[in-house]
Amino acid sequence: MPKFSVTTFGCQMNVHDSTRMAEVLRHAGWTETTDENEADLIVLNTCSVREKAEHKLLSAVGKLAKLKKEKRDLVVAVAGCLAQQEGERLLGKMRQIDVLVGPDNIPELPRLVEDAAMGAPPVARTVFDLDAPVFLRAEPRPGSDVAPTAFVTIMKGCNERCSFCIVPYTRGPERYRPSREILDEIARLVDAGVREVTLLGQTVNSYRDPEGALPRAPHADPNDPDESEFAALLRAIAERVPGLLRLRYTSPHPRHLTPSLLAAHRELDVLARHVHLPVQSGSNRMLKRMIRRYTSEEYIERAGKLVESRPGTTLSTDIIVGFSGETDEDFEATLELVRAMRFRGLFGFKYSRRPYTPALKLPEDVPEEVKGARLTRLFELSEELLQEHLATLVGTRQKVLVEGPSKTGEAVTGRTERNEIVHIAGENVQALVGELVEVTIQKSFKHSLEGVLDEADRARFAIRPVPAQARRALPLV
Ligand code: SAH
Ligand code: F3S
Repeated sequence: MPKFSVTTFGCQMNVHDSTRMAEVLRHAGWTETTDENEADLIVLNTCSVREKAEHKLLSAVGKLAKLKKEKRDLVVAVAGCLAQQEGERLLGKMRQIDVLVGPDNIPELPRLVEDAAMGAPPVARTVFDLDAPVFLRAEPRPGSDVAPTAFVTIMKGCNERCSFCIVPYTRGPERYRPSREILDEIARLVDAGVREVTLLGQTVNSYRDPEGALPRAPHADPNDPDESEFAALLRAIAERVPGLLRLRYTSPHPRHLTPSLLAAHRELDVLARHVHLPVQSGSNRMLKRMIRRYTSEEYIERAGKLVESRPGTTLSTDIIVGFSGETDEDFEATLELVRAMRFRGLFGFKYSRRPYTPALKLPEDVPEEVKGARLTRLFELSEELLQEHLATLVGTRQKVLVEGPSKTGEAVTGRTERNEIVHIAGENVQALVGELVEVTIQKSFKHSLEGVLDEADRARFAIRPVPAQARRALPLV
């Protein structure tokens, strides 16, 4: 059987798309390998949201040149946002590429690859499925090693026009998946052993059911333009898939953080007590230039209500530094907002100009060194907040969903209801993978925690006491 490998760059949506590509290829008779040297097809799933990702593709394709010379029938396929954005042009620039597919053309991948293997010239397929959007079904294979966590796409594309962002151009306009399909997929995943699902979408909380099958959620105001059917979907999942232990979603847009969603957080135990809520900047001048459609006061108010809706809820965020026109004062406003919100996690990015985006009209006026210095300060603050928070958890009891083995030592790693990473050491702890267990937090590290199993769980899973050498080997980050 021919073999393929997939390398993924970028966001969770791409990770999800890579899994779908693997499934489509398996259906067509391919088997997966992690070793590019033995692959007959190499798929690179690209990202174009920031400049660096583009450089990464260039170097990855460059590295394949040698392999292609040695193995004449090797097929190289490039998928994802950069493929969508550049289309045919990429074929002209990088001669190693045989097949190029946009995110909506994944089902065509096996046929295009077959043609290429038969000697067809390089081809690009980057057409959005606007009239009949397709959401490929996840195909968990019961009996195989199913990971305890999974992503489920509920929408694709984005109707916002944040001035810095290329996603609306590479992923197209918003299209929603019927709730019927979403519920069915989650139920099948749970049957196969999945315990936690993360719903995916660019503005995941603007979801609407195209088939109109969801009852109106409590507190949903039909006259509010920011209202959606996202809360109704969360309620339907909680009700109809009781075997699901945890439900997360990413990324919501602050504009759609409406009373119906707050009520869902208040009432649904299955919802994780953590939300990633991108803010981008704390300065109203910048937010306006970014076309984010909220002020920092509105963000603070809405996010504050979310945290209040369920005690112990934590937030993380995305921030761009050095956007066009950002002054020291604007940046200080961002730091102030980060302190006020006490974010427990933060992705910070230096602004990079993207093709097609409205912000190209604005001058690129923040020098690279200034961007770098601001990012360093931002990360320092975020590390300080995270460490402070982790230290307060020592001595508390936490429910941890164990996701897999730790990178080092005889330990496993999982996450709390919020999103803190917890390591559990001990002989035989591998038996805990996929289980929800109670631990007492003993230690905090820079980015994670160490927990000890309760007596009852230790007996239930036949875990022996932690050996001294494993304790030393615990991850120390
Ligand atoms: N709504 C999407 C956003 C995708 S882009 C989601 O989170 O699912 C992810 C993050 O990349 C954004 O939140 C933003 O912080 C950052 N980003 C997007 N475009 C950027 C650019 N041109 N320069 C720097 N960072 C950018
Ligand atoms: Fe991008 Fe803004 Fe949409 S960040 S993905 S345009 S919500």
